[in-house]
Amino acid sequence: MYPLTIGLAIETKELWEEVQSTLQELPVRVMIEQHEVGELPEFLEKIERMRPDVLLIDVTKLRDPLEHVIGRLKATSCEPMVIALHTSAEPELILGAVRAGAHEFLHPPLSNSLRQALERRSIERSKNRERLRQKGKVMGFVSAKGGCGATTVACHIAAELGRQGKHVLLADLDLEAGIVRFLMKTKSPYSVMDALNNLHRLDQNYWSALISNGMPGLEIITAPEMLASKSQPKQDQLQNMLSFIRSQYEFSIVDLGRSLSPMTMSALEEIDETYLVTTLDVPALHQAKQIVQTLREAGYGQNRVHLVLNRMPQRLDVTPEELEKMMSLPVFATLPNDYPSLYDSYSEGTLLPPNGKLAKQLGRMAEKLAGITEEKTKRKFSLFS
Ligand SMILES: Nc1ncnc2c1ncn2[C@@H]1O[C@H](COP(=O)(O)OP(=O)(O)O)[C@@H](O)[C@H]1O
Ligand SMILES: [Mg+2]
Repeated sequence: MYPLTIGLAIETKELWEEVQSTLQELPVRVMIEQHEVGELPEFLEKIERMRPDVLLIDVTKLRDPLEHVIGRLKATSCEPMVIALHTSAEPELILGAVRAGAHEFLHPPLSNSLRQALERRSIERSKNRERLRQKGKVMGFVSAKGGCGATTVACHIAAELGRQGKHVLLADLDLEAGIVRFLMKTKSPYSVMDALNNLHRLDQNYWSALISNGMPGLEIITAPEMLASKSQPKQDQLQNMLSFIRSQYEFSIVDLGRSLSPMTMSALEEIDETYLVTTLDVPALHQAKQIVQTLREAGYGQNRVHLVLNRMPQRLDVTPEELEKMMSLPVFATLPNDYPSLYDSYSEGTLLPPNGKLAKQLGRMAEKLAGITEEKTKRKFSLFS
């Protein structure tokens, strides 16, 4: 059973005891536990803060009219399942509760009916989660050893996908040395830390206050600016934020900084694919190999890791085949070395203009990553079918 969070307000002793003993055997976490609803605004505020999946409300002795209470509970932003509890099954009450929108009306003996209701909700929740998973793709970018170009590539890929009509987020999770803020000239004073510290109120409204935009299709959330504010987020905080992001964007391009920090490792579950950006110098390749191995040992499927060779020199000492063999990984993309163009663009505060060799390769990589190349080929074929 997919774990649920519960809020309860139960005054009647008999109901309280039955509910408690049923909940004890289920994978649920009780976040609000009180004997009565009390002042409705206060109770609603608590729900908004704690965001329980399910509310168990004893409607035997409510202060306010039943329909009013249930209506207000249902209108909270976390859209909880509302289960009305009563000591007896009075048809009028049942009808009133159901009309007001209660999902269930339960009376003793509660054990079986409550368990079944929660199981139904749990199945719904896990299906929702699955749907969210399918909705957006979260792509991580890791630099083999810092300075390999992961940030540069992530910024250009995100901008390119936005240009291609995708709804894209660029998120800087390099909490140590994030420079997306600088490269993309973002203006928002907020950062991923604000999202991580306020997960309980993370909804579309709050999120839209944190991000900045300016390029077509692309929104950006940066790493914190102040060194002092850099604290490590907890594992579930990071995963919750990523899963929220996934629900909002078609593509989330996440800069994970250099090598694999404990933070990056804990985020992996929510990262569909990881793009490992390396240059061809020996230390970088060595680090890249270590990263591939670490990911494999962590059970991260090999088909989810993609190798990007950046700053390719004109002449190679090794063949791409030799490299693939050494890394036990196919090369996903190769990008030419073009320091002067990048230098010029960054000095002007822009990204690369679209016509250079490096920009073109980045464009191709973006299409491959988003499956646009496949879409185009399919469309061509469908003309003749
Ligand atoms: N293909 C490339 N050709 C030339 N210089 C590059 C290329 N990619 C990145 N750089 C440069 O390398 C430096 C490090 O890039 P950055 O994206 O910050 O690396 P990382 O995020 O891996 O630490 C920057 O000065 C950047 O302009
Ligand atoms: Mg970087």
